[in-house]
Amino acid sequence: MNAEKLSALYRQCAAYFDALYAPETRIYVFGDGDPAARILLVGEAPGEQETLLQKPFVGRAGKNLDEFLALTDLTRPKLYTTNLVKFRPVKLSAKGRASNRPPSREEIGLWKPWLLKELAIISPKVIVSLGNLPLQALTGPKTAIGQVHGRPFGEMVAGAALFPLYHPASVIYNPALRESYLEDLRAFALFLRENGL
Ligand code: URA
Repeated sequence: MNAEKLSALYRQCAAYFDALYAPETRIYVFGDGDPAARILLVGEAPGEQETLLQKPFVGRAGKNLDEFLALTDLTRPKLYTTNLVKFRPVKLSAKGRASNRPPSREEIGLWKPWLLKELAIISPKVIVSLGNLPLQALTGPKTAIGQVHGRPFGEMVAGAALFPLYHPASVIYNPALRESYLEDLRAFALFLRENGL
């Protein structure tokens, strides 16, 4: 059963990072959804809300994601949603307030093998990368989301088709991307229909 294999993987993963970062403790946000899903979404790393609720994409980016998914026939329970980095990367202000920061190169390198193991268990037909970091982790550092978004990537990844999309938070920071995002979602919906997904 995939669910049991995933729980075992997540236990191993937590033990690995707990030992690596001891004595600091971190709150993990592992994947969520249907462990036998044919479509898997992979984001960058959880933020504050995700860490509080220990579920991926439940904050502002998650609201955008749900709005975009409404353009397809997909809802979250039908998908598996996860992140490349499974704890919130934070930086502290002089006053000690935590805010998000991009994952470091080292963190990405440490997390990538765990993502690949997760993909091997779920074995989806389509992987949707959300943003540059999961895309680059899966295809190499030279791939740029601006050039490959909104259509199936030329090569299979982990036995699945890869469909790169912008990160759903990118439209929060850059509202001009919204139209392009909607177009990509329509292309994604068509891709799913054409492939019987
Ligand atoms: N951004 C991500 O990449 N993942 C989340 O889970 C939330 C925000």
